[in-house]
Amino acid sequence: MRARLYEIGIASPRHRIVDDPDAVAAFAAEVVGWPVVLKTVRGGYDGKGVWIVGSQSDPQIGRPFLADVPVLAEELVDHARELSAVISRSPGGDAVAYPVVESVQRDGICVEVVAPAPDLPGQLALEAQQIALRAAHALDVVGILAVEMFETRDGRLLVNELAMRPHNTAHWTIDGAVTSQFENHLRAVLDLPLGCPVAHDQWTVMVNVLGGNRPEPFTAYRHVLAQDGRLKVHWYGKSVRPGRKVGHVTISGNDLDDLQGRARHAAAYLRGDIDA
Ligand SMILES: Nc1ncnc2c1ncn2[C@@H]1O[C@H](COP(=O)(O)OP(=O)(O)OP(=O)(O)O)[C@@H](O)[C@H]1O
Ligand SMILES: [Mg+2]
Repeated sequence: MRARLYEIGIASPRHRIVDDPDAVAAFAAEVVGWPVVLKTVRGGYDGKGVWIVGSQSDPQIGRPFLADVPVLAEELVDHARELSAVISRSPGGDAVAYPVVESVQRDGICVEVVAPAPDLPGQLALEAQQIALRAAHALDVVGILAVEMFETRDGRLLVNELAMRPHNTAHWTIDGAVTSQFENHLRAVLDLPLGCPVAHDQWTVMVNVLGGNRPEPFTAYRHVLAQDGRLKVHWYGKSVRPGRKVGHVTISGNDLDDLQGRARHAAAYLRGDIDA
């Protein structure tokens, strides 16, 4: 994937496929220095399959090689934040692009998404959307493509990962956009005209609910709905495990600080971190 991105002129972190810890050390010595980020190229999600190793003697360095899949070594990008550009593309090449969002990551897990990304210069937002459209065209994607990227401190975009499916960073579109990513995915694969991707409100905040201290969510669900009539709660019906994404909340409006406060509060309540 990284090689294909390079061919079509899309920048990503400097990287190399490596076979063993010695090859990681060689990559560090020759190209990026330490620390090095190691990733298994298949089977990773929510930061599982990503290791940051500080030196050749780091005990973690052997871990990625235990699974029988190729390992990617790459530079640790000193980024200002992470962005996601999501598009939907039809078989004939028509496409719509959603507003570029900021995705806040903690321990390799997306915890919060703000649409649109606050203070993102228009030119950079356009560049992010064009990267996603170009990648979709080059890879002949049909349906949703989400492109996760780093915004570097010097204002560049480096592509981290492509996801060819409806994506967590566009769950906000269910409540916050004229056409949700799921509807536009289906429209694309059915070769129907695509729906408008525009947001209803100035801001939409989505906060993931991670499995926590509350095994039975229904009472909490009633509580947050009663507490905040603007809030939308989505519960996935999965068994609750610590750290697992089990739902999300969304809220839209004009006051970003207020929306973030309300969405974070509801997610913390649903998780069981707070009880009021
Ligand atoms: N090269 C890097 N430099 C800095 N941070 C990184 C780098 N690669 C990954 N990360 C951090 O780790 C997170 C998870 O990495 P990545 O998206 O590659 O893995 P994943 O487990 O496949 O995640 P996903 O749940 O998105 O599928 C990134 O969102 C980012 O916060
Ligand atoms: Mg990712």
